This record gives sequence, structure tokens and C-alpha cells, in this order.
Amino acid sequence: MSSSLFITKPVQAAPHVDAGELHGSLKGEATLKRTLTARQLIALGIGAVIGAGIFVLSGQAAAAHAGPAITLSFIIAGVACAFAGLCYAEFASMLPVSGSAYSYSYATLGEIVAWFIGWNLVLEYMFAGSTVAVGWSGYLNSLLQSVGLGLPDSLATAPFNVVDGKLISTGGWVNLPAVAIIVAISWLCYIGIQQSATVNSIIVAIKLVVIFLFVAFGIKYVNPANWHPFIPDAQGPGKFGFGGVVRGAAIVFFAYIGFDAVSTAAGEAKNPQRDMPIGILGSLFFCTLVYIIVAAVLTGMLPYGQLGTPKPVATVLEAYPALNWLRMIVEIGAIAGLSSVILVMLMSQPRIFYSMAQDGLLPPTFAKVHPKYQTPYFGTLIVGICAAVLAGLLPINLLGDLVSMGTLLAFAVVSAGVLILRKTRPDIPRPFRVPAPTITCPLGVVSCLYLFWQPFSENWRIMLGWTVLGFFIYFGYGYRHSRLRKGG
Ligand code: ALA
Repeated sequence: MSSSLFITKPVQAAPHVDAGELHGSLKGEATLKRTLTARQLIALGIGAVIGAGIFVLSGQAAAAHAGPAITLSFIIAGVACAFAGLCYAEFASMLPVSGSAYSYSYATLGEIVAWFIGWNLVLEYMFAGSTVAVGWSGYLNSLLQSVGLGLPDSLATAPFNVVDGKLISTGGWVNLPAVAIIVAISWLCYIGIQQSATVNSIIVAIKLVVIFLFVAFGIKYVNPANWHPFIPDAQGPGKFGFGGVVRGAAIVFFAYIGFDAVSTAAGEAKNPQRDMPIGILGSLFFCTLVYIIVAAVLTGMLPYGQLGTPKPVATVLEAYPALNWLRMIVEIGAIAGLSSVILVMLMSQPRIFYSMAQDGLLPPTFAKVHPKYQTPYFGTLIVGICAAVLAGLLPINLLGDLVSMGTLLAFAVVSAGVLILRKTRPDIPRPFRVPAPTITCPLGVVSCLYLFWQPFSENWRIMLGWTVLGFFIYFGYGYRHSRLRKGG
């Protein structure tokens, strides 16, 4: 049994090669419609990446963990992502399939690892959709309050919060705006990726303009005294000092999540060999620059202790009456920008389920493609329902930590997988190759696991429960229906 748990999916040449068709493929991967261009892929990446991480978690992590050194946290997290990003680019250009890290680990480390990673990708994509929806709700409610239409706290707050590792009741009933945005975006995903990508490109443009305005006008109000001390003195594990900077890096790691979502659209890319690396690395590089600049302006405009609000970017603008006009614009931009992140997340998750169902690890209905919209509609519906429930009931800090942990594990496995496949299948054409893989890949593994450890020590019970549930489903269904083990 143990060897069949680690059965790997053969990597084989594609049956035919159209313009832009794949070099390599995984056995059994079937087709979605190939419509996405390089520009759309970069927009997809930026659309997924710039979101609640910078608009919400940056301020909260600065206030509670890193102080002005949150800029350093962004650099640390960005470096870990760069290692993993290079590895994603090699995999995605070599195996342009929909399953992302799940498919890559199936080809390298075996079925049970692939299942484990696929299960963690649920933490990444579905839970990230919910996390960002909670951030979206914070900005929406702030905007509504400024025109006298704010919702009562009971309808805009999750009933639970986590304080010092304990779940406490908040007095809220449900985060209604967060639920509403998930429902609306799930519908967009249901009716098709082409429409969704177009909507996404428009929103990305709005988001970038708003960030540009914030930096251009906010920079005049930066008081360098707010950057001192750059690293505040440590006040306990993960609270300021260097430990706080690393804990901050694990939190703002969330801000980078999503560049890998580009790889889940590989099965729908027109020219995946050329465009996957451009889409992944291009969006990652661009976002890193933006984050460092925004974080420096944010912490320069107000003392870091005041940034721990549900809408830190709006909070710093509130402090300067001359910038009040900009506050509303930023809020509208953030609302639009966060929507595009939710869109990419909710679009990616059903595509991973689609790949898993094609492999027999999930029921076949997850692999059914809608006859008219050509989308994996069943998975889209299920993901929408689950994400809405999570967004309505859980706080952003807990959701964010779970997302980061699931993603960091996936990144570590992808980094290891590149090296393994270089050894086991050197023959496959690699349109993009990780430079110095014997150094880059291990650095990717170590840096991702190091960041993973930071929130894990506080949330290990939930992670353990999630993992056990995953293996329960695998041995209850996937193990018995795996097409690969049945020789299918
Ligand atoms: N990187 C995405 C965000 O910050 C998930 O919202």
C-alpha cells in the first residue's frame, strides 16, 4: 500500500501541439477553453496579488508586530516568494495544466503528497477569497458610514474573533457585506473566465491608479520621526524586535499570495510556454515594489500604533483633513481592488478541484464543464457557498493565518518538486529554467517552511484538524477512486 500512496503521475508529451499548445502534459488532463493572453495573465496576477494584504494586514501587522520595520517584513516575504515564484514559472511553463501545485506534486512526489497539497490549496484559494471579503467589508462599511449609511456592527462583524490564541465571541451576528460580495463574484465565475478576466483587467487599472494617488499625495505628509525606532524593542515572542519582523513577514506574506494563481489558468492560456513565466514573475516583481513604497508611506504618515484598524490606508488619510477628498477615492478603489482578488481566488479553487476530480480523487461532478459557459460550474457553486459561510463567520486575522500556512506549505513542495523533476525527468523541454536550482530550490523550501512555522505555533490545532479531515476524505474516497492507481 505504501508504495502506491506515492505513485506519481507520468509526465507525457501533449497529444497534439497547436499554436501555443503545451510541450508537456499530465496524463489525463483535459481541456478548458484557451483564451487568455500574456497581458491578461499579468492582470490576473496583479488582480490576485494586490489586495487585503496591503490594504488591511500591512497596517495591522505594523501595529501589533513589526512597527515601521513592516517594510522589512515585506522584503523578507518577497524574497521567499521570489524563490517559489521561479519554481512556479518552471513548472507552469513546462506543465501548463489547471491544477497548479497539486498537479506538480502529483508528477514529482506522489499521490498522497499531491492530495495533501491540493487540500492545502483549499486553504490558500477558498479561504483567501473569504479573508479578502472580510477586508472588503471593512472598507465598504467605512465608505457607507461616511455617507451616513453604515451598517450596525452586528451585521458587519463576524460572531467570533481570536485573541491570544483563544476564540471569543464578539457580539456580532454575521459579516453580511462579506457574504454578499462572495455570492456576487461566484456568479461571475460561474458565467465564465473570459468575462471574468475582462472585468478583472478593468478593476486592476482602478486599483493601480488609487495606489498611485495615495503614494503621490501621501508622501508629502510623511514625517520621518514616525520611522523611529525602525524596529521597536521586543515585547514578547513575535511582538516587535526581530521576532516581530519575522512574524510580520508571515502575516504580510498573504499580500503576495496570488501570483501563483496565474498558474491555475495555464490550461486556459493561449501560449503557456512563453506567457506563464511572464505572468508569474512580472506580477510578483511589480507588486513587491508597490508594497515597499506603500508600507513606507503608511508608516511614515502616522505612528505605527494607530494603524491597527480594519482599513489602515483610509485611517491615515482621515488624520489629514487636506486629504479627505482622497480618502473616499481610496476607499472606492480598495473596494474595487479587493473585489478583483476575490475574483481570482474564487476562479482558481474550482479549477484545482477540476484537476483533482479528473484524477478520480474527488467525485466526477467536480470535473464537469458547463455546456454553455465552459466553466467547472459545480466546483464554483460549492466553493462559493463554503467561502460565503467562512467570510460571514470568521475574523480576518485567523483566516489570513490559515491562508498563509496552506500556501507556504504548497510553495515549499513546489520548490522541492522542481529539483526532483530535474533529476527524474531531465528530458522534458523546459521553456523556463530556474537558475542555480541546487541553491534556489532548497532556499525556497527553507524560507517557506521558516515563515510557515511562525503562525503554526499559534494555530497548530486547527492545522492538525484540517489535515486529518483531508486524509479522512482521501482514504474515504480518493484512494479508492484514483484513476492512476486503477491504471486509467
Ligand atoms: N495577495 C492577496 C491579498 O493581499 C491575497 O489580498
